[in-house]
Amino acid sequence: MDSGVIQKALHYIQPLFEKDATGHDLDHMKRVARWSRELALREGADPTLAELAGLLHDVDDAKLSQNPDASRRERREKLLEWGLSDAQVEEIEQAIETVSFRKGKVPASTLGKVLQDADRLDAMGAVGIARTFAFGGAKGQMIHSDDPGAGTSVQHFHDKLLHLLHLMNTDSGRQEAEHRHETMTAFLNEFNREYYALGGKSDESK
Ligand code: ADP
Ligand code: NI
Repeated sequence: MDSGVIQKALHYIQPLFEKDATGHDLDHMKRVARWSRELALREGADPTLAELAGLLHDVDDAKLSQNPDASRRERREKLLEWGLSDAQVEEIEQAIETVSFRKGKVPASTLGKVLQDADRLDAMGAVGIARTFAFGGAKGQMIHSDDPGAGTSVQHFHDKLLHLLHLMNTDSGRQEAEHRHETMTAFLNEFNREYYALGGKSDESK
């Protein structure tokens, strides 16, 4: 594997994600890569493969790529071009294949587990809160509503984000997730306190 492989991957993904405003920007990839590397070191997976997988995990995401199959093929070609072996490329592809929350898959390899944990951590805590409202704003979604069917950003915490703690794969990931979970529950408590202060909605006082 080339020594500059991380730099090459960064260079490759830059134009793909630099304009994103839905929480999938370049910084998401870098944060996931850093945590993926850190968790790999603590859990006994290859840290460079973990970092690479973090940088590349959303390249073929159907929300972001016009043609996921072509994106996946190009990613494979790049990895081989940067000097990874067929087995290493396969390991990364397998890990990325199981990362998505929606598909609900549990990764088989330690690499897959740390990558999924790193991606989940980035949806939690203060960064997760920021991403949720950025995503909601980009999609024209309301912040909050008393109608549980309104599909608001606050509802997304209950639908997904508050469940992530119990879905973490690794002890190291769970340790960080506990802190981030508390940050989210503190935020929601405070949100409700402010939102419903002084007797709730203004039309009720009429
Ligand atoms: P990823 O592809 O990185 O696994 P997602 O696409 O599921 O994650 O979500 C990206 C970010 O947008 C996350 O922070 C997530 O919480 C947020 N997000 C996804 N769906 C919604 C939604 N319906 N409302 C608000 N935020 C959302
Ligand atoms: Ni992601």
